Amino acid sequence: MIRENPDMFDRVKRAWAVWMLANGSYGNMLDGTYAYDRQGSISKKLENKRAGFTAEYAARLQRAQIERCDALRIVGSRDAPDAFFYVDPPYVGADQGHYDGYAQEDFDALLRKLEGIRDKFLLSSYRNASLAEFSGGVAESMMGSRSGAKELP
Ligand SMILES: C[S@@+](CC[C@H](N)C(=O)[O-])C[C@H]1O[C@@H](n2cnc3c(N)ncnc32)[C@H](O)[C@@H]1O
Repeated sequence: MIRENPDMFDRVKRAWAVWMLANGSYGNMLDGTYAYDRQGSISKKLENKRAGFTAEYAARLQRAQIERCDALRIVGSRDAPDAFFYVDPPYVGADQGHYDGYAQEDFDALLRKLEGIRDKFLLSSYRNASLAEFSGGVAESMMGSRSGAKELP
């Protein structure tokens, strides 16, 4: 209901709906069906997640910036000598669920961007042929730094 008619609901209700879909659906997929079991473990999981809304959690988020923007632009605009990027793109060739459409070209462009940054990053990925060529193969270990990569044969 809220997803189909977002304009009818305020921001808090829309945020709640996304949270419920992300945490209460099968496989945590926003376009999945509601998960259920007969033992109550799913309800317990939701209870625990709700309990995670603490003052400490809110305080930590006060210094966070949340943006809806292309990753390449974010990496380019935040690159600095002491920056550290954790990059978790969609996995090419896998079931990408509600963010379906991330292709090999997108992943290759991301790798090229990461090769050009000034400091460190951590990249999550499944095995991908492009990783073997990227930074002399260092990315195959899932972790890379531009300077470290340059030292490899
Ligand atoms: C593997 S998920 C990351 C999950 C995240 N680490 C978490 O714990 O919720 C990949 C994410 O990349 C986002 N995404 C896809 N293409 C993108 C792009 N070009 N720029 C930025 N984010 C993108 C998707 O919407 C999805 O949320």
